[in-house]
Amino acid sequence: MSLLIYGAYGYTGRLVARRAAEKDLAPTLAGRNAEKLRAVAREVDLPHRAFALGDTTALREAVSEADAVLHCAGPFARTARPMVEACLHEGAHYLDITGEIEVFEYVASQEARAVEAGVMLMPGVGFDVVPTDCLAAYLAQQQPGAQYLELAILATGGGVSGGTAATAAMNAGRGGAIRKDGRITRTPAAWRTRCADFGRGPTDVTSIPWGDVVTAWHTTGIPNIITYAKLPDAAVRLLKASNYAGPLLRARPVQSFLEAFAKERASGPDASTRRTAQSFVWGQARTGSGRAVTARLSAPETYTLTARTALESAERVRDGHADPGFQTPAGHFGTDYILDFEGTRREDLP
Ligand SMILES: NC(=O)c1ccc[n+]([C@@H]2O[C@H](COP(=O)([O-])OP(=O)(O)OC[C@H]3O[C@@H](n4cnc5c(N)ncnc54)[C@H](OP(=O)(O)O)[C@@H]3O)[C@@H](O)[C@H]2O)c1
Repeated sequence: MSLLIYGAYGYTGRLVARRAAEKDLAPTLAGRNAEKLRAVAREVDLPHRAFALGDTTALREAVSEADAVLHCAGPFARTARPMVEACLHEGAHYLDITGEIEVFEYVASQEARAVEAGVMLMPGVGFDVVPTDCLAAYLAQQQPGAQYLELAILATGGGVSGGTAATAAMNAGRGGAIRKDGRITRTPAAWRTRCADFGRGPTDVTSIPWGDVVTAWHTTGIPNIITYAKLPDAAVRLLKASNYAGPLLRARPVQSFLEAFAKERASGPDASTRRTAQSFVWGQARTGSGRAVTARLSAPETYTLTARTALESAERVRDGHADPGFQTPAGHFGTDYILDFEGTRREDLP
């Protein structure tokens, strides 16, 4: 049973590769830059093959030798399509660590082809969306018939990788998104705030377009979903300002500048920061008549958790725990999947 990890020399890909080596999983590492890839492969002593996603022959050849692919090269709006196509063509299961709404939507739209090909497609096996998806599933079970779901995240003491910053920059000027009456609906950026209790006192959180507006709907069927994050005040001000500068921010030269700027400044948390930082998820499911259940999760730092959940998910799928079609983490692995990871804890709130 073999696993291909693409994007293995990126910040997150490297964490995944190191963990794979620690666990003796023997995946093949891949990426487009032969030199950078060789450096990681040498560090972790794993086989590697370099190819660009645009090289369809090399991509298909590599995927044809894998039972499952864990795609770690993003922004996924630019990279998911060729890899999903190769997986469907070669019959390999597909997993990635995206948090991008349009990517979840695109992958979900491939459901019929995936079923026909006997291939499982599971985007979002990182921090976004494993913990949030599991909390959503838990709340839906606790509150049958819920019509409204709100999820909020808080990351403390950590930092952001170049890839995450570049993905955020790529989405600058696109506003927000929620699920309303079963449909994805665009909103202004940072259009709503509310209070969430992550266990550190009441905290103001701001609406963000998080992948759960797609995945939590697939997992729970709850038709109205809003996702929030605790953001620095300056970020909230910037997001609100972006509502007046959307077309400018979306212009190609401005996008390129923002992405390069973001990438250059964000290097990702170092090992000691990753050990001490933490992440939290708060959620509430409500019926139409206002009956509500509330719960929260605490978990390790976001990139540490991403490496663990992504690799564990890929390992399980590679070993045959796969159902063809589009799958969400909690829908497939179960509501309590997140509790399998060291350092995670779920708590009901009054
Ligand atoms: N959902 C989550 O919780 C979560 C957690 C962590 C990361 N992520 C996402 O995962 C992605 C990677 O994050 P990161 O921290 O690893 O960023 P990173 O350090 O910038 O790494 C990005 C990797 O993707 C590769 N890449 C980018 N575009 C490519 C393309 N068109 N073809 C082939 N390879 C390409 C890069 O290769 P080059 O160096 O050759 O460009 C690099 O290896 C980001 O989109 C980030 O938002 C999500």
